[in-house]
Amino acid sequence: MERELGNERPCWVLVGGRRRLGKALAEDLARDHDLVLTSSRPWGDVTERSRGTTPAQVRTLHWDAADPELVSRMMADLEALARAGVTLSGAVLVAGTFPEAPIGTWSPDALEATWQINLTFPLLCAQALAPHLADGACLQFLLDTSIHTPWLQRLPYSAAKGALAAALPGLARLLAPRVRVVGHALGALLPAEGRDAAFLAEQTLLKRLGTPADLCRAVRFAADSPFLTGEIITLDGGRRWR
Ligand SMILES: NC(=O)c1ccc[n+]([C@@H]2O[C@H](COP(=O)([O-])OP(=O)(O)OC[C@H]3O[C@@H](n4cnc5c(N)ncnc54)[C@H](OP(=O)(O)O)[C@@H]3O)[C@@H](O)[C@H]2O)c1
Repeated sequence: MERELGNERPCWVLVGGRRRLGKALAEDLARDHDLVLTSSRPWGDVTERSRGTTPAQVRTLHWDAADPELVSRMMADLEALARAGVTLSGAVLVAGTFPEAPIGTWSPDALEATWQINLTFPLLCAQALAPHLADGACLQFLLDTSIHTPWLQRLPYSAAKGALAAALPGLARLLAPRVRVVGHALGALLPAEGRDAAFLAEQTLLKRLGTPADLCRAVRFAADSPFLTGEIITLDGGRRWR
């Protein structure tokens, strides 16, 4: 743990805040938030933890979806943060995987691994975080536009995100009125390696890929919208209406 956080800046948890979209979100939020970032891998040196010159106070946690002790680890970490006087006023569940899995290749182990990171892990994180979130906090999930039309080469992934989307309004009911719950069904922002970016852009109404900045705006909008809960914002450049 790093030095004590002050109370001036809101402090958010980003589950999966180390790489790709999570990192972009962390860098944007660090302008006016303190952060708790999780990763499935142990954190390295202080430079990585402090994220260069950002004035944000950044704490790091090691949460791995495959850890058999995950639930007790999360509880212990969140209790330690509370003891340190950290008030959590927002959380974004970023972590996921995007495995290609054509029909014919499915196996119990591969399906289980897909559910574990894309469905079990976010639900367990939500359960652990909810009692530690401040009144009025917003708990946000990163989903996928495939909740509307599944990716045929990634049907297990699409099913996991679809299940999370189906649970989201129920979670909003369970956590209301204290905590709001919002999802973001993302189109292609940072395409996975090997995907054809020009083709993906062509699939949208707006003829472009999304950007991490598009996501940051939506996440800030959800956090700043106290009458919004139980909803999923689709942020895919209109792809689903083609
Ligand atoms: N990129 C896009 O264009 C796009 C489009 C639609 C939806 N999304 C959704 O947006 C989210 C972020 O996507 P992304 O493309 O930035 O990243 P990603 O490659 O899907 O990975 C997100 C994070 O998951 C974490 N993670 C992986 N395995 C884990 C494990 N076993 N336990 C805990 N955390 C684990 C990784 O962090 P560590 O390695 O540090 O643990 C990584 O930072 C995902 O939920 C994805 O489904 C993204």
